[in-house]
Amino acid sequence: MKGLILSGGTGSRLRPFTYTNAKQLIPVANKPVLFRVIESIRDAGISDIGIVIGGTGEQIREAVGRGGRWGVNITYIEQDAPLGLAHAVKISRDFLGDDRFVMFLGDNVIEGGISPLIAQFADSDWNSQIVLTRIKDPRQYGVAELGENGRIVRLVEKPKQPPSDLALVGIYMFDHHIFEAVNAITPSWRGELEITDAIQWLVNSDYAVHPYIHRGWWIDTGKREDMLEANDLVLEEIEYIVDGYVDRDSQMGRRVAVQRGAEIINSVVRGPAIIGENSRIINSYIGPFTSIGDNVVVENSEIEHSMVLENSEIRDIEARIQDSLIGRNVKITRSPIKPKALKLALGDNSQVGIL
Ligand code: DAU
Repeated sequence: MKGLILSGGTGSRLRPFTYTNAKQLIPVANKPVLFRVIESIRDAGISDIGIVIGGTGEQIREAVGRGGRWGVNITYIEQDAPLGLAHAVKISRDFLGDDRFVMFLGDNVIEGGISPLIAQFADSDWNSQIVLTRIKDPRQYGVAELGENGRIVRLVEKPKQPPSDLALVGIYMFDHHIFEAVNAITPSWRGELEITDAIQWLVNSDYAVHPYIHRGWWIDTGKREDMLEANDLVLEEIEYIVDGYVDRDSQMGRRVAVQRGAEIINSVVRGPAIIGENSRIINSYIGPFTSIGDNVVVENSEIEHSMVLENSEIRDIEARIQDSLIGRNVKITRSPIKPKALKLALGDNSQVGIL
């Protein structure tokens, strides 16, 4: 089987990490979502992976490279414009050939990986398998209606009145019949070749499309208003590991990951939390559900339930920082310089809550 990851599209404005244009590269628990996708495909035993790229292609190539780091081979497939998920499949024909494949949206994360799903599909004679999950309000997703026999009756993209609570998760498995489907359909009202229409075409043409209902959590980070919530879910899976240095005066919780070269000095870290490579936590408190990125310094400060991206510094802050998203290269410090005032240099769309 092969893997196809969709990482095209234009840049995103996911606040406050605006400067990372490719939404697939936003880190969740210190690892870009796209890397998590590559790892779940690799862990399912697939090593030939195509990545569809668009306007942010250069950033993606630079971050991912040729795949050696994961022991996989990456082929880049350029999509001129984001003309839809089915369009992305269409232009990947040469890469995919007649192999069965899994298509994974580059901004989706799913609990527990996809190995069992892939094994099930590889051993089946189904033409396609789709992944569904129950959510309260599925209006911003593809939605499936199943018949009494559990078979798919209908798929609709972003319906105003959803026919069920079963949303399509961004993971799909196909055999080569999908190419007949993507060539047969026409663009939707939003001008895209929709994968839901292509799957509907398979269903209408009596091809076997198996619906799998996923019961764990699932995150479409591209849609998440709340990056912290996504971070919380992934941090739940963190296990205790210390690859850095923890001094004897520090107290560490059970679910804390201290990455390579990081130092914890005279501090308390309560998990689940992750401290990135070469970061230094000095005389500080890091509370549950906090991700500290690489090369960050936290000194004489307290922070909890927050994300701090790489190369940032937090020093001598008396109030506890909580529920906060802190981007790259940010400095939060106390200043002795008079007049005593808040001195801020905030990027576009910033939000600051002051006591
Ligand atoms: O996340 C699940 C949802 O993903 C499904 O429920 C929907 O049925 C499906 O259409 C899709 O909806 P989105 O609105 O979330 O798709 P989005 O435009 O965000 O694109 C998903 C990923 O695919 C994203 O990483 C960008 C990439 N992409 C998208 C388009 C439209 C491409 O590579 N090429 C494209 O042409």
